[in-house]
Amino acid sequence: MPNKRKASKKASPYLCAAVVLILIAVILLAVILVLAFSDSPEPPPVEESSDVPTIHETSEPSEEPSRDESSEPEFSEPSDNGVDESEQSTPGGEDPGLSPTAAYEQRVGKAYAIDMTDWEQYVCPADPMEYVFLVDATHTLAANFEPEDLVWIKDMRKDRPEYYSKLRFCAEKALEAFLEEGRQYGIDDVKVSNGFRSYSIQKSLFESYKNDERAKHPDYTEEQIEALVLTYSLRPGTSEHQSGLCVDMHNQINTDLSFAGTKAAIWLEENCYRFGFILRYPEDKEDITTVMFEPWHFRFVGREAATEMHDLGMCLEEYCAYKGIA
Ligand code: DAL
Ligand code: ZN
Repeated sequence: MPNKRKASKKASPYLCAAVVLILIAVILLAVILVLAFSDSPEPPPVEESSDVPTIHETSEPSEEPSRDESSEPEFSEPSDNGVDESEQSTPGGEDPGLSPTAAYEQRVGKAYAIDMTDWEQYVCPADPMEYVFLVDATHTLAANFEPEDLVWIKDMRKDRPEYYSKLRFCAEKALEAFLEEGRQYGIDDVKVSNGFRSYSIQKSLFESYKNDERAKHPDYTEEQIEALVLTYSLRPGTSEHQSGLCVDMHNQINTDLSFAGTKAAIWLEENCYRFGFILRYPEDKEDITTVMFEPWHFRFVGREAATEMHDLGMCLEEYCAYKGIA
């Protein structure tokens, strides 16, 4: 036992010396290797540091640059296009400094397909209430009344007589814009069949309708005949065709209800207010207007009033009462 202890005490210094020698050899080898490759120590760290910031700068899941670029407009477009901005602009919702057309487009959320530069002044008259008035059984026009600014209707049916082919200047210009816009949407065959009608023409028309109804209903009294005709035609002096501010327009052979529900009729009704027109005799207002639904009859009132009527869902009788227009 004592011999064994002595032997182990002697082996320990040799082992330590061997370990120290091995360590020195490893360190020397490492130094040699470092010196041998000392010309290119930089690239690995540089590459690493250039990659990492690129990923962090985008602060998004690691995507290729091309993907980041393509996704950027989707994030930026809504805020850039003014939805948020319009909410923090004028009380009416339009940005100050916009052109009247651009402000209106923003207000109604729909852009014109045509360039409105030349049409704005007609669609939106300087006095927005100038053309807002009733012509009916209690708001009559004198037998000799004829507007002084009648002009030929550009989009008139060629087979119609000249005495149906005029309109007041402002309404005619607004109509040109309206139908030009329609053409951009493929509504390219709508033509006017009736514009201004004089008192005497209206008188002849009303009498001819009464004759037709008498022939169809020989048992009717004169009161019944007249009441029937009054649902679709009006006595002279009470038709707004005499005002020169309305048109009958469609793409059918005759002015009848077959036009209702067609692509053209729907587009005209949905877009007329943007050009200052109203569908004067809507289907759901027959009890107020007393005239049967006429999907072809559009009346110019100016864009401000037409848009307000559109937004409020009012016909002209309701709107005039709402505005206190006698
Ligand atoms: N057809 C419309 C109501 C008019 O005669 O004025
Ligand atoms: Zn009409």
